[in-house]
Amino acid sequence: MITKDMTLAQVVKDHPNTIGFLNNLHLDYCCGGHEAISIAIKEKGMDVEKFLKELNEVAARPTTAHADVHEDIDSFKELSVNDMLDDLEATHHVTDRQLMAETEELLNKILIVHYLHHGEMLTKLHHLYAGLKAELEEHFAKEERLVFPLMRQHPHPDKETLDFVKGLEDEHTGAGDIIKEIYQLTDNFTPPADACPTFQRTYQVMESLFDDIFIHIFKENSIAFPEYAEQE
Ligand SMILES: [Fe+2]
Ligand SMILES: [Fe+2]
Repeated sequence: MITKDMTLAQVVKDHPNTIGFLNNLHLDYCCGGHEAISIAIKEKGMDVEKFLKELNEVAARPTTAHADVHEDIDSFKELSVNDMLDDLEATHHVTDRQLMAETEELLNKILIVHYLHHGEMLTKLHHLYAGLKAELEEHFAKEERLVFPLMRQHPHPDKETLDFVKGLEDEHTGAGDIIKEIYQLTDNFTPPADACPTFQRTYQVMESLFDDIFIHIFKENSIAFPEYAEQE
């Protein structure tokens, strides 16, 4: 039973089949998912009791949608910390880099083609996205070259490594904030009426990038990093 005192991160950890439902409502279960449901849902201006009732129904329902994501999270939880780190680098770091490159190319294309009619919005989007991409590339490099190797060298965490891990969590929050701004700017990725197929494709690729980033950050913030901190 999911209660209003639980966090959305805890809900997804226990019931990965709720991801689709939360994604549709654009609720953050990863970067800022550490507030109690009673607070997070009220902040969104939604009815907490109604939300809890629906969420419990979704959690209890065996669902085939996003089945690969649930299996993926369930098997990730069973890994050792070192294997979690290897897995993150081999999966999400690779996928997100590919999707970022694809998004960048598409976005630049539609910025040029649709400049006259949607220049103001697309300039803002291009700018926000460029900032997000820079932050994520630097963040991935920091994880791969500095913090993950430190975590492997210190299986029993020391203060310095834990501080670095905390720094990564703060960077996740920063990335999540930019993603939320982009959701708002694009009206939750609703293309304008005159959008060409490339415009629509740009939104689709960007949205799948963000979905993957959310799962990526969730696995780090709510599974791998707490598991590491517990090895003290
Ligand atoms: Fe990562
Ligand atoms: Fe990260």
